[in-house]
Amino acid sequence: MPGKPKAEAAPKAAKKSKTLETLRGFRDILPDEQAAWEKIEDVARNLTHSYGFGRIRLPALEATSVFERGVGKDTDIVEKEMFTFVDQGGVKMTLRPEGTAQVARAYIEHGMLNQQQPVKLWYMEQFFRHERPQAGRYRQFWQLGLEAVGSDDPVLDAQIILMTYSFCKDLGVDTIVNINSLGTPAIRKAYISELTKYFKGHAKKLGETDLKRLQRNPLRLLDSKEDGMEELKAGAPQLIEYLDDENKQHFMKVLEYLDEAEVPYTLNPFLVRGLDYYTKTVFELVSTNPIGENGSQLALGGGGRYDGLIPLLGGREATGAIGAALGLERIMLAMKAAGSMPDNKRTVDVFFCQLGEAARRKGLKIFEKFRQAGVDVGEAFAKGNLKAQLEIADKMKASVAIILGQKEVLDGTIIIRDMEAGAQEIVDVEKVVSIVAKRIQDEKIAAKNSKE
Ligand code: HAM
Repeated sequence: MPGKPKAEAAPKAAKKSKTLETLRGFRDILPDEQAAWEKIEDVARNLTHSYGFGRIRLPALEATSVFERGVGKDTDIVEKEMFTFVDQGGVKMTLRPEGTAQVARAYIEHGMLNQQQPVKLWYMEQFFRHERPQAGRYRQFWQLGLEAVGSDDPVLDAQIILMTYSFCKDLGVDTIVNINSLGTPAIRKAYISELTKYFKGHAKKLGETDLKRLQRNPLRLLDSKEDGMEELKAGAPQLIEYLDDENKQHFMKVLEYLDEAEVPYTLNPFLVRGLDYYTKTVFELVSTNPIGENGSQLALGGGGRYDGLIPLLGGREATGAIGAALGLERIMLAMKAAGSMPDNKRTVDVFFCQLGEAARRKGLKIFEKFRQAGVDVGEAFAKGNLKAQLEIADKMKASVAIILGQKEVLDGTIIIRDMEAGAQEIVDVEKVVSIVAKRIQDEKIAAKNSKE
C-alpha cells in the first residue's frame, strides 16, 4: 500500500477471540436504519431526475493510475488513504476512494464527448479510504455524486451547488455553502510561489506537518488547523487577489446565480479542498448543526470545477466540468441532529393470521395472492397463537386482519376481522383478496376525502 499507513492494532477479526467482528472503520447497516437510507435514495432519485442527470454505476476497483493521475500523487488520498493491492494476475488496483476520476475515465472510455454536452451523471456508491475512523469518518462510506462534464458555463457551478443545498434541505438539513475560487493552474502557480515565499519567511513558526506541506503542497497550508496557524494564515496572500478578469468574471457570475437562487454562502479564502484536479470554483457544505466529534464541524459534501481533468486523463482539451459529492453517513448524522430521521416502524393495511398446521400450509399461497394483488400485507407465520398474531397486527396498524383456521380450511372460507370494531365476517376464500383489496381502497379514498 503506498504511503505505508501507520501500524495499528491487528484487525479485530484477527484477535484471539471467538467472535468475529467487522474491520475497523467498516460497519453493517442494519434494518433499523433502512427507512432513512430509503428516504435519502428517494430524494436523490427525485432531484437527479428533475435536473436531467443519468445514473452511472461504477466499478469498485480501478487501475491505481486512474486515481494517481486523476486525484494527484501528492494528495492525502493518494499518498496515505488508498486500499491498493496487486491481484493474482500482477495488476495493481485500488478500491475507489472517490468517483470523479472514475467518471472522467468513463466519459473518455465511452466517447461521451459525442453526446449532447454537458453530460450529466449521478452515482450513489460506496468508497474506501484508509482514514482514522471517528464519528462521520469511516473506511467504507457512501457518497451521492453529481458530475456535469462538457461545459464551462458558470450557471452549472451554481446549479450543482443549488442541487447539493436542496438535497440537504429536502432531508430536513439546513446548510451553509463555503465557497472559494482556485483560478486556473497558471494563476495558481504564480500564487503558490508567493504563498511559499510568505510561509518560508515564517518557517520557524511551522510544525512538522506544516513544514512537510510547505515542501510538497503549500496550498494545503491554508487548510491547516495547527496551533498558531490561524494568525499566520490571516496575514498570507489571498488567491482571490491573483485572479485575472476571466476568472473573476466566472466567480462573480456563480455568486450572482447563487444570490438569485437564494442559496446561503460564505466566501472562504482558505478553502482549497484536498484533491488536485480543481480549477476555479470550489465549495463545501456544512450543516448548521455541527456533526463531528466534540461538536467539531465536518463537511457534509464538497466539490468544484475540474476543467483540466478530462485532458489530463487523455480526453479532449477544453472539456470543462463541475461536480460535487455528499457523504451520506454524515448527512444521516445531520438528519439525526436536526430531528428529521423518518420513522422506521413498518405499518401494513392488512395482516394475515393462521391457526393450525393445515391453515399454515394453505395460508402461504393465500398470503402470496394478497401480495401479488398489490395489497400491503403483513404476517407472522412463525407464530401459532392467534392472540400473539393479532397483537402484531395491532402494532403494525393494520385496519383488517384475515384469519384462517382449521375449520375455514375445511369449509373453503376465511374470516375478515375489522381491527377497530372487532367485528368479523366469513367469506369465500376464493373471493377474499378482491373483497379486502376493494375495502382497503375505499378506506383510503374516504380518508383522503375527509382530509380535503
Ligand atoms: P471529498 O471532499 O473528498 O470530495 O468527499 C466528499 C464528501 O464525502 C465529504 O464532504 C464527506 O461528506 C464524505 N467523505 C469523505 N471521506 C469520508 C469518510 N472517510 N467517511 C465518511 N464520509 C466521507 C470528493 O470525493 C470529490 N470526488 C467530490 C467531487 C465531485 N468534486 C467534483 N466532483
